[in-house]
Amino acid sequence: MAAGKKAVLGVTGGIAAYKAAELARLLVKKDISVMVVMTENAKEFITPLTFQTLTGHPAFSDLFSQEHYDLNHISLAAYGDVIVVAPATANIIGKMAAGIADDLLSTVLLAARAPVLVCPAMNDNMYTHPAVQNNIRILQNRGVHIVAPDRGELACKTAGIGRLAELEAIVEAIETAWTDKDLAGEKILVTAGPTREPFDPVRFITNYSSGKMGYALATMARRRGAEVILVSGPTVLPIPYGVDFIPVESAVEMRGAVMSRLETVTVVIKAAAVADYRPAVRAGNKIKKKRGPLNIDLEKNPDIIAEIGAKKGKRVVVGFAMESENLLANAKAKLFAKNMDLIVANDLHQDGAGFQSDTNIIKILDLQGGVETVPLMDKLDIAARILDRVKALIYAGSR
Ligand code: CTP
Repeated sequence: MAAGKKAVLGVTGGIAAYKAAELARLLVKKDISVMVVMTENAKEFITPLTFQTLTGHPAFSDLFSQEHYDLNHISLAAYGDVIVVAPATANIIGKMAAGIADDLLSTVLLAARAPVLVCPAMNDNMYTHPAVQNNIRILQNRGVHIVAPDRGELACKTAGIGRLAELEAIVEAIETAWTDKDLAGEKILVTAGPTREPFDPVRFITNYSSGKMGYALATMARRRGAEVILVSGPTVLPIPYGVDFIPVESAVEMRGAVMSRLETVTVVIKAAAVADYRPAVRAGNKIKKKRGPLNIDLEKNPDIIAEIGAKKGKRVVVGFAMESENLLANAKAKLFAKNMDLIVANDLHQDGAGFQSDTNIIKILDLQGGVETVPLMDKLDIAARILDRVKALIYAGSR
């Protein structure tokens, strides 16, 4: 993934240039080596020293520098696994569209063979001008990735479209640009998070699921080119970029959201922690405190993955098992009983595994009796390992 990758960050002369410093910092934090190329106008807004301090490399702008003669426009163009222009002014977009190379950054961009991302930021009248829109279309047709600006308050005190995209969106676009699209053509439905089973208007039964594993799977599947539907119970996580996000609350709602889309998908990954039971009655008003204990009758929820298993067809179906005892035996029983292809088993008692953690430790069980142990790693890396197994099954079925 990101660690060990290299990026060239092109900075042009707009007020959003100050945000490029934070972008450089975010990339460096991910162990990405960042080489900054600035235009002369960018230096009116932010100094090369800022970038040098953040990246550990000089920030370049001189096409004919004698000082760093080994880092010229050609070697800088070849340096990056990606080239990101953030912020990109109307001027640099126009120069790229026309193939003009009259300073270091425009020359690097013309010599580049790595994926190029352009993040426009400008006044809304400029952004919506037909000349700029036309240039953006030219770049898109040429395979340049455009990270569209946001709508909101602009530096010129007007509101409109033209704010530099959120830095998290730019980072995600970078991660996507250098990820192999080995799941292109697949439509993957992921469920995530807990369900909430209400028993009056203010209270519900739920569990500790954070949704992190399912969101990591959705993020990684999209980066790898799949079309992703994320059906999620309530979580505090930001919605992953570029997925079709379907929020639900209860298991019954989750079942509806999943089953109505099942026909259209090729893979289902059920990372959600679905409540097995729901209160039999949902009181219309808040239940008041009384003397003595309160009993709530529970009735069974639908078993969503078992229903999917029954209608599986050629789909690849992956379930999860969170166990506090007999991990492998319980997971294996669920794998066969619910007609899954793979089950991902988590041991609740292991440090670094399970619900709230950013990491996980898993075992992947298959129908042939195979057990793959995936050691402690970040949930995004775990997601990649699970998707590798999904891909192998897709290829084996040669769909
Ligand atoms: N699951 C589901 N619908 C349910 C319960 C579970 O789709 N009503 C799915 C989960 O998303 C998970 C898998 O089934 O992928 C296993 O969930 P788990 O709660 O571990 O298994 P259960 O069959 O509910 O067994 P138990 O609670 O007895 O361990």
